[in-house]
Amino acid sequence: MALNNVRIIDLPRVKDARGNLTFIEGDRHVPFDIKRVYYLYDVPGGAHRGGHAHRKLHQLIIAMSGSFDITLDDGNTKFKYHLNRSYYGLYIPNMMWREIDNFSSGSVCMVLASEYYEEADYYRDYSEFQIDARAQQR
Ligand code: TYD
Repeated sequence: MALNNVRIIDLPRVKDARGNLTFIEGDRHVPFDIKRVYYLYDVPGGAHRGGHAHRKLHQLIIAMSGSFDITLDDGNTKFKYHLNRSYYGLYIPNMMWREIDNFSSGSVCMVLASEYYEEADYYRDYSEFQIDARAQQR
């Protein structure tokens, strides 16, 4: 997938003096059925996560708390996003290499995924990913 398929999804917000509320419905606010949710937390300063791509899986990443950077790479071009609002989701289609770093202290990174965990869906080797990504974009 090319980087222009990536987008920030502005999630619904119910503002309230008692605290704000955001909700997410599969196939409505995210362009896939949510099969799995996981989150990164207690991330030590300087840590670096990600460093992989998915063959089929689509995902939406939300900074539930704090902030972090996500660098995306479609095999040709890189783009860095800074996520720091719990009502913005970064939609990432399949075939996109991603790295996550610069986690603020106490941050929580939540990922909504279109597939169950399956190691066979991962590219963990950048060169292998790049060859396939470039071939698919032709
Ligand atoms: P990994 O996807 O490599 O983490 P990151 O890319 O964020 O650094 O996953 C780390 C480990 O956790 C790996 O051994 C697989 C396991 N894991 C699961 O068992 N289930 C899951 O849903 C995820 C995301 C990871």
